[in-house]
Amino acid sequence: MAARKGTGKGDDPGARIEALMREIRRHDVLYYQQDAPVLADAEYDALYRELQQLEAAHPELARDDSPTRMVPGAPVSGLESVAHRTPMLSLSNTYNREEVVAWRDSLAEYLGMDETERESLRFTVEPKLDGVAIELVYEGGELRRAITRGDGKAGDDVTHVVRTIRGLPHRLDPGTLASGKKGAADERRASGEQGAAGEVVAVPELLEVRGEVIMTRKAFARLNERRAQAGEELFINPRNTASGTLKSLDPAVAQQRPLTVVLYGLGVVEGFPHDGQAHAMQRLAALGLATGAETRIVGDLAAVLAHHDDLLARRDDLPVEVDGTVIKVDSATLQKRLGVRSRSPRWAIAFKFPARTGTSVVKEIQVLVGRTGALTPRAVVEPVHVSGVTIEYVSLHNRDEIERLGVKVGDRVVIERAGDVIPHIVGVSESGSGAAFVMPDRCPVCATPVAEVEGEVVVRCPNLSCPAVLKRRIEHYVARGALDVDGMGSKLVEQLVDGGLVTSLADLYALDVDALAALPRMGAQSAGNVVAGIEASKTRPFARWLYGLGIRHVGEHVAEVVAEHWGSVEALRGATQEALEGVAEIGPVVAEGLAAWLADADEQAVVDRMLAAGLAPAEPVTPSAADGVLAGRTFLFTGSLQHMSRREAREKVKAAGGKLLSGVSKNLDVLVVGDKPGSKLKKAQELGVEVLPEDAFLALLDAG
Ligand code: IVH
Repeated sequence: MAARKGTGKGDDPGARIEALMREIRRHDVLYYQQDAPVLADAEYDALYRELQQLEAAHPELARDDSPTRMVPGAPVSGLESVAHRTPMLSLSNTYNREEVVAWRDSLAEYLGMDETERESLRFTVEPKLDGVAIELVYEGGELRRAITRGDGKAGDDVTHVVRTIRGLPHRLDPGTLASGKKGAADERRASGEQGAAGEVVAVPELLEVRGEVIMTRKAFARLNERRAQAGEELFINPRNTASGTLKSLDPAVAQQRPLTVVLYGLGVVEGFPHDGQAHAMQRLAALGLATGAETRIVGDLAAVLAHHDDLLARRDDLPVEVDGTVIKVDSATLQKRLGVRSRSPRWAIAFKFPARTGTSVVKEIQVLVGRTGALTPRAVVEPVHVSGVTIEYVSLHNRDEIERLGVKVGDRVVIERAGDVIPHIVGVSESGSGAAFVMPDRCPVCATPVAEVEGEVVVRCPNLSCPAVLKRRIEHYVARGALDVDGMGSKLVEQLVDGGLVTSLADLYALDVDALAALPRMGAQSAGNVVAGIEASKTRPFARWLYGLGIRHVGEHVAEVVAEHWGSVEALRGATQEALEGVAEIGPVVAEGLAAWLADADEQAVVDRMLAAGLAPAEPVTPSAADGVLAGRTFLFTGSLQHMSRREAREKVKAAGGKLLSGVSKNLDVLVVGDKPGSKLKKAQELGVEVLPEDAFLALLDAG
């Protein structure tokens, strides 16, 4: 990030407002665009509040592009098609290392270089982001338009949506090229031959800058979590969500779905001199434009290929979905000499990561019934290997998704499996002769007529004792994050429900060793283990029990909030909807879900039976901050932990009186590092924060 002159503190309010805007925007970029916050939330809030107060006191100095005023604009009635001044090209691509070397050799030949000169060709390497290509047009430093790639010649005007992207400047300010001291990424960039640190970058008259609109994995997960809590349809993957969001006509809708833009190229520019890709990117960063958290290095082909391998190894740990690298000849002069072919430049190539897609034929479309009764169609396909995993079933999510894909039995479909995202169908590659899918109007398990809720695409089985719903509810109840009952797999759950041994969650507590041991494939010892597991579940923490019950809109976090507030089943049972809504972090939708559950006689009868069987959830203990061994200290975890989950680690800190922070800042006392720590470690070291390996952290707790 560019070094900025002066903080404006103590200066006139105008200068301070400018300085605060820049600072907040810088942190917005770090937080929203690069997933690498350096300030604690409270510190960021303090800057934000100071800006708000100054703007309120000096309304004449408040700028309309201030981060405090990013209110979404009015909805548009349709998307206008706008021509690109110069076409947005595609990239030639390969999956093969030899072809990358051959590409480099062909460039050298085209340029008439001999073998020594060929080896000295320098390249940049960037992640190939899996999103939607976009062009931003800044005129006189003002963001005028954002246009999707479209067919390369013209795209859709999506300015109203792009303006809602946090951290993207609506107006450019002049900046200074980063110095080499600020961090590894900057260092590496600065070590390129181009771009001296300290170079001043003026605001160009015209800047067409191109990049990819994406949604980070974290933002996607958070968005889906929020949607699940609110009982809304889940999005399928980050790419489709980013693409769908860009097409929203209403920017207020788009603002709820945090997008990120990462810039990697230029269109037509005036007043933006640069001598190559790395230098151009440094200059964009100096203007406050996000050019991606992943380092781009400048080097010979060997260095570039090593970086490709490194990214590939970290593919699943990257904050965004990356499907390869893009290798570019760095020098602007050479780029010009090499020129473009009809659809792609000669000077760049996409070196793709091994495919995570395969094709297969749909044998059948089944309809599953979930824990909330939701009917979910899924495709049964001819088994196919996709990146080392055999896939036989692919969720089709809902009726609308099947319609969108136009998938029928007999079709050949493209299946994708990306990172930790479950496999999904990308599209139909060859249509078969099967009939169109029709959603059943009765539950496929219990034949109860299905219920449709207006405004929702989901169709539900309304029968509370539907065996399918009961099985899913039990699975959820005994799962790890809930009551964590050992030995209770889905096979056993199936046997218990199908055999009539369990007709409600409460029946679990009536199971005995004899009844279980009589089941096929179940010995006395396993039966004993299951009964012991069920017994142990009686005293799990109140929050985990609440979560396990599967009350609508009550996820793990809400369950914790409720448990902490009411402390016990008995106390919660006395709560009114009003009282529920009065608790911070409980919104009307959640309160309604809880109130409905409290008012449901059948559900409460189940609870009564559980209590009668001896269920006694452990009440939350609020540790006295003064007593705990970590009292008064702040903690943050990074990297993958070997001896505990993140959740357990956080619980340990809280139980020992410590506090948790969400980012590295000078308020952080201890950073606990697991395997493969990321940028947080570097930042902590720069700030002089104490760094503890996971083992030392555990030893610290033991010592207390
Ligand atoms: S450069 C003239 N750099 O990949 C060069 N493209 O398959 C044009 N993409 O349409 C693009 N990451 O949407 C470039 N670091 C990157 C990229 C990138 C993703 C996309 C872009 C392009 C597509 C071509």
